[in-house]
Amino acid sequence: MNGKWAIITGASSGIGKALAFEFAAGGFNVVLIARNKTALAEVATECSRRSGVEAEIVATDLSDPNALDGFISRLSSDSRRYEVLVNNAGFGIHGDFASTDIEQNLRLLNVQLAAALKLTRAVLPTMIARRSGHVLNVASVYSFSPVPFQSVYAACKAFLLSFSSALGNELKGTGVRVTVFCPGTTQTEFRSRARIGQKRTSSGMTAEAAARVAYLETLRGKHIVVPGLINRLFVFLAQLLPDSTVAGLVRFINRQRGQSHS
Ligand SMILES: NC(=O)c1ccc[n+]([C@@H]2O[C@H](COP(=O)([O-])OP(=O)(O)OC[C@H]3O[C@@H](n4cnc5c(N)ncnc54)[C@H](OP(=O)(O)O)[C@@H]3O)[C@@H](O)[C@H]2O)c1
Repeated sequence: MNGKWAIITGASSGIGKALAFEFAAGGFNVVLIARNKTALAEVATECSRRSGVEAEIVATDLSDPNALDGFISRLSSDSRRYEVLVNNAGFGIHGDFASTDIEQNLRLLNVQLAAALKLTRAVLPTMIARRSGHVLNVASVYSFSPVPFQSVYAACKAFLLSFSSALGNELKGTGVRVTVFCPGTTQTEFRSRARIGQKRTSSGMTAEAAARVAYLETLRGKHIVVPGLINRLFVFLAQLLPDSTVAGLVRFINRQRGQSHS
């Protein structure tokens, strides 16, 4: 089979869906992974219709630790050229940790971390052998700060940032690049799904604008990508100030934004 392929998790909505359209428009065939089969099928059809690429869907629940086993064992034997992996699937948990559902927190680790690690480990050997490839990990500005009332979510994003930086260094000279994309508020279903109340629902970037930046910077091989001036200012301050001060600052900002727990 000829042509480059991009694997994108969380491609049924929001940033992942917009990234699917970006990679398809760039000539990549796409493998789209998420739970919602109907939504995935619509994205796949649209990728093929708009850009004439092949699009495959894998409808699976990444919170199940075995969800990717079949797909990953197939990856090692098929002859496709997997050039890009986008670890984007994620969701939020909002509330004081002492009251949150522990099983839901563990599912979050599976979706955001275990699935990303498994897929990355599966695609890297052939990327390295071919001396080309890109891994794009979708993290957050919260990668740089502790976030009261979203503690596990933000810790996952900090993990992704640290992992991406270490991996990027390990891969120097191999032709494989790692990009970690750290958006701030983006207009997707993320906030309503996590029941994060907010005064202004229209604030932040559109998913399309965020995906455009992520796509271009990934192909340029940039390592850390923070889109938007305000997000970059936040990251600058978060890196400058002590963690305890940043936690208090984030709690204050989120209270001003009308988030229910803060
Ligand atoms: N929106 C923001 O403000 C913002 C800011 C910073 C970072 N991010 C990050 O951006 C990424 C994309 O989020 P989004 O904003 O685009 O939100 P979204 O519209 O809710 O999209 C989340 C995607 O993840 C998939 N997903 C969630 N749970 C899953 C599971 N158990 N198994 C498989 N797929 C699952 C969803 O698909 P199904 O429901 O079909 O499974 C969906 O495709 C996330 O990693 C998020 O943390 C978002």
